[in-house]
Amino acid sequence: MDIAYVEKTYSKWSNIYDLFWGKLLHPGQKAAIEIMDIQPGDRILEVGVGTGLSLPLYPDNCQVVGIDLSAEMLKKAQKKIEKHQLDNVVLEKMDAGNMDFEDNSFDTVIAAHVVSVVPDPVKVVLEMKRVCKKGGKLLFLNHFKSQNRILAKFEELISPLCDKIGFKTDLDVEKLMTITNLKINYRRKINLFNYWQLVQCVNQK
Ligand SMILES: C[S@@+](CC[C@H](N)C(=O)[O-])C[C@H]1O[C@@H](n2cnc3c(N)ncnc32)[C@H](O)[C@@H]1O
Repeated sequence: MDIAYVEKTYSKWSNIYDLFWGKLLHPGQKAAIEIMDIQPGDRILEVGVGTGLSLPLYPDNCQVVGIDLSAEMLKKAQKKIEKHQLDNVVLEKMDAGNMDFEDNSFDTVIAAHVVSVVPDPVKVVLEMKRVCKKGGKLLFLNHFKSQNRILAKFEELISPLCDKIGFKTDLDVEKLMTITNLKINYRRKINLFNYWQLVQCVNQK
């Protein structure tokens, strides 16, 4: 799965994404914003913001920047900004693996259902670390490879198929954190059947 394929795939998803995933992903998105413990004036970056399902959940005393590869997904997010009058949110078309932002630009950076979608998750996590301030928060909301051996084997088997519709099922969070030198300081299972995880790390650079 390369970047062009991801962009094309999510352009196709854009019209039905909210219908399919909206309710299912809502508890995780709400919990992620709660544990961010947002302070007035904080700058938050959402990489792979998609259709902007989480945008109306942010308090209006912070600044939110959402980036995505897919112009079609961003159009849906822009509609939410207008509908909910979210004056504190801006969107940009950008690759999460190669961001235009300066180092240390954000207090919190979140990737919700993104690291299992990109061709190179390590590159994206390292970019998230770079643009996040030292001591800032990095959050990941995702399905990761199961710790149950039988389920993990099944996820490995079906991952190439799921790849074709835009996501992997067998991303190993422990390995990802080790390679990118991050330590998890908060982790909980979330959403339907606890199939997803909310993971938070403090950016030690
Ligand atoms: C599964 S959707 C998640 C959308 C949103 N975060 C949510 O939780 O509903 C994945 C999103 O990541 C975007 N994406 C994939 N690769 C990306 C990249 N390299 N840079 C920026 N966005 C990317 C896709 O276009 C898509 O909108």
